[in-house]
Amino acid sequence: MVKQFISNLWLDYSVRLCPSSSNIHHIVGDYGSITTDHFALRTLNLPQINVQSISLLLQNIGYKSKASYIFRKKKLYAEHFEHIDKKLPKIFLSQLNLQDCSKSLQKFCLDKFTKMSFDHTNIDFLFSGKTWDISINDYEKFLKESEYAAWFLAHGFGANHFTISVNALNKIKSLSELNEILIQNKIIMNKNGGLIKGSEALGLEQSSTLADHVQVQFSDGFFYIPGGFYEFSQRYKSIDSGRIFNGFIEASADKIFESTNRL
Ligand code: NI
Repeated sequence: MVKQFISNLWLDYSVRLCPSSSNIHHIVGDYGSITTDHFALRTLNLPQINVQSISLLLQNIGYKSKASYIFRKKKLYAEHFEHIDKKLPKIFLSQLNLQDCSKSLQKFCLDKFTKMSFDHTNIDFLFSGKTWDISINDYEKFLKESEYAAWFLAHGFGANHFTISVNALNKIKSLSELNEILIQNKIIMNKNGGLIKGSEALGLEQSSTLADHVQVQFSDGFFYIPGGFYEFSQRYKSIDSGRIFNGFIEASADKIFESTNRL
């Protein structure tokens, strides 16, 4: 069941949100087997869809919340989840704290979501896309306030990114080596906060592509906007515990969120 969920989520992401993922696989696949370190989901802190309610669904398929993260400036809260089967990807689940947002964004979301019903027995809603309407004007308006809000309202539920584990690529020694290969292959990377976020000392280095521009149906037509992106991570043993660091670094994740910014 958990494998079926991940494979369906991947299918939605690779077709709808990040079509360049097949090209990335083509490039990276030459250097070892592609293993997902984690994938990321975005939501809002409304009772029926917040991190707490989605975590119940994740628990049903064997995931446990391991740590929480706060991004004050972006008004986000996140938790990461790990599966009892350590070979399965971690999940980075974040939510926008609407109470910190403008009245007009709060009202828009309350109007859209309070009357909607989400089937909480069915985890498939996490890749159900957008089941509500939004106009391009509202998208542009909310984009000025919160890139995260605009992204979620335009794309709905689905993976924002998947992350390839560099540790699992047997022909690559470092994330910077992989970045070089991607750049040589004309992949556009997110340079906000530097190409590599984090460090060996922190236990985690990450880099990511800039989001694909994908066509989205708005209530008044089709428009191209940033969709999903691909991330790459290298994890290191923590000096204290001697074990591989499995968490996330707030300062790095803060910059990774900006992979969906418009150029
Ligand atoms: Ni990530």
